[in-house]
Amino acid sequence: MRTKISGTGMSVPDRVVTNHDLAARMETSDEWIQQRTGIKERRYIDPGTLPSDLALEACQRALESAGLEVGDVECIVLATLSSQADFPGTSFFLQDQLGAGEIPCFDLRAQCSGFVYSLSVADAFVRSGTYRRVLVVGCEVHSTGLDISTRGRDVSVIFGDGAGAMLVEANDDPDDPGEILSVRLHAEGKHAKRLWVEAPGSGLSPARFTQEMFDAGLHFPHMEGRFVFKHAVTRMPEVLRETLDIAKVQLEEIDLFLFHQANLRINEYVAGQLEIPSEKCFNNIQRYGNCSAASIPMLLDECVRSGRLQRGQLVSMTSFGSGFSWTSAVARY
Ligand code: UT7
Repeated sequence: MRTKISGTGMSVPDRVVTNHDLAARMETSDEWIQQRTGIKERRYIDPGTLPSDLALEACQRALESAGLEVGDVECIVLATLSSQADFPGTSFFLQDQLGAGEIPCFDLRAQCSGFVYSLSVADAFVRSGTYRRVLVVGCEVHSTGLDISTRGRDVSVIFGDGAGAMLVEANDDPDDPGEILSVRLHAEGKHAKRLWVEAPGSGLSPARFTQEMFDAGLHFPHMEGRFVFKHAVTRMPEVLRETLDIAKVQLEEIDLFLFHQANLRINEYVAGQLEIPSEKCFNNIQRYGNCSAASIPMLLDECVRSGRLQRGQLVSMTSFGSGFSWTSAVARY
């Protein structure tokens, strides 16, 4: 049994936060942010909007584009590092809002690589005959967890809020070329603390969260930016090539390359190393910043809706993130 991508959707909040808006709240500048990351603006939710609201809209769009109803979906896999509550996962709130009945749903935690990890799980469900149609979702609300001050400026300027969704389903039509050809997943937990949010956490004592932890800012992301950058530019080309080898596809045959949107400079470097022409790459970090698990499905949806990716074309999706975790997938759309 083959798995095909039958629908895509995305959702971002209306509120645009520019680099100038951030510069009003911390010592930074539009010039620094654009030069180092390529980001011009990102979106932040307004009070009252939930992560599951963004995920809901992305899923509804994915279902609409696939020509399917929510009743056709048999399982939901949602990737996030910014869960709506400590437990249960965001997927449970989404399942209820979607009106998806009692279908199984769960969150998958692999940070910026979470979407491709989830896609791999969904692909395995479909190939094994467990479920015919799975909604795969990436959903992040970073804005409520950032240190929007000079102390946190290295991390906070790069993140934004958004959600992306993909409907994958069994393809038993021999005339339909749509197929996820290969997915590779990797992780290296020894670097877990190079990019992490420590608190609240059950590894902490005497409690998961104390006033001291709050004062020390342990609830904000901490990142060794240069260290992460160096690993990203090494691991992404490695796993991309590995995935193509398994799929028996040449790099030159790929029509569209999508890279995780952590930093435009990382993606330019990776594309340069692999000698990928810039017209075969698509980035949206300039407008949305780094939306972690949501970045790849958001990119894919924008490419599908703008006609940048056509049925029958080959798309490569590659990510790197906290964990460390890195992944790549290649699909015939
Ligand atoms: O999505 C998960 C994976 N994440 C990534 O892949 C991110 C990888 N890392 C990066 O993209 C980059 O490391 C950053 C964009 C986060 C930071 O860029 P950098 O070129 O590595 O800067 P840096 O942290 O080494 O800091 C250089 C200087 C420092 O000042 P001094 O010590 O040279 O005086 C920082 O204090 O830039 C300063 N700085 C800033 N200045 C203005 C750090 N952040 C800012 C800022 N505005 N926002």
